Amino acid sequence: SRAPVLTIDGPSGSGKGTISRHVARALGWHYLDSGALYRAVGIAASWADIDLSDASALVRCTFDTEIEFGDEVGDEPRVIVNGLDATDELRTETAGAAASAIAAIPEVRAALKDRQRAFRRAPGLVADGRDMGTVIFPDAGIKVFLTASADERAERRYKQLKEKGVSVTLPGLLREILARDARDANRAVAPLRPADDAVRIDTTGLSIDAVVERVLALLPAR
Ligand code: C5P
Repeated sequence: SRAPVLTIDGPSGSGKGTISRHVARALGWHYLDSGALYRAVGIAASWADIDLSDASALVRCTFDTEIEFGDEVGDEPRVIVNGLDATDELRTETAGAAASAIAAIPEVRAALKDRQRAFRRAPGLVADGRDMGTVIFPDAGIKVFLTASADERAERRYKQLKEKGVSVTLPGLLREILARDARDANRAVAPLRPADDAVRIDTTGLSIDAVVERVLALLPAR
């Protein structure tokens, strides 16, 4: 028998990460931040001076990159890339843009498939990303698709990055978010879209707790 999976997909800034971590904690389930894998490969590629247009080198880099999730700092686990702590670098918009560029390469996505599925372990998994419900765990028992207005998503990212001391501007972030959304939604392989059987939740104006409650309410009573 396979461990249950709850998938939470959506665009950047929709609150996926925060909501997924809270839900995983409430259930006592494992958590997969699939975006962190793409970001980690992007960082490893930049460390190795690999050009983002060199698809075959990026595919090799994907196979060669060791990615580990370590102890939690604050709310998020540390991400160790090839033995080095990449937690802070991982959250920058530069890493997000690199991730989104390499995520458009089909062989990179294929190379990360089994690594993502390996996170499915008892008692269950909350998987956060763009294609968790459509490609990686199509048989997930519960699928959620989170959205929020672009303005609100930019503001949330702005606050997050500000708290981390990263210097950004709100209009700049909004532009980057819209560009990344367009790239993620329009790519040929695994484009960002809700699974047919996903429950959509618009989180604009909702608190974290309110969204977490709505997601938990989708689970069968325990
Ligand atoms: O979720 P996060 O912002 O960390 O993801 C960074 C980028 O990685 C996304 O913009 C997307 O291009 C890519 N990604 C993906 N599939 C996933 C998770 C992330 O293509 N499951």
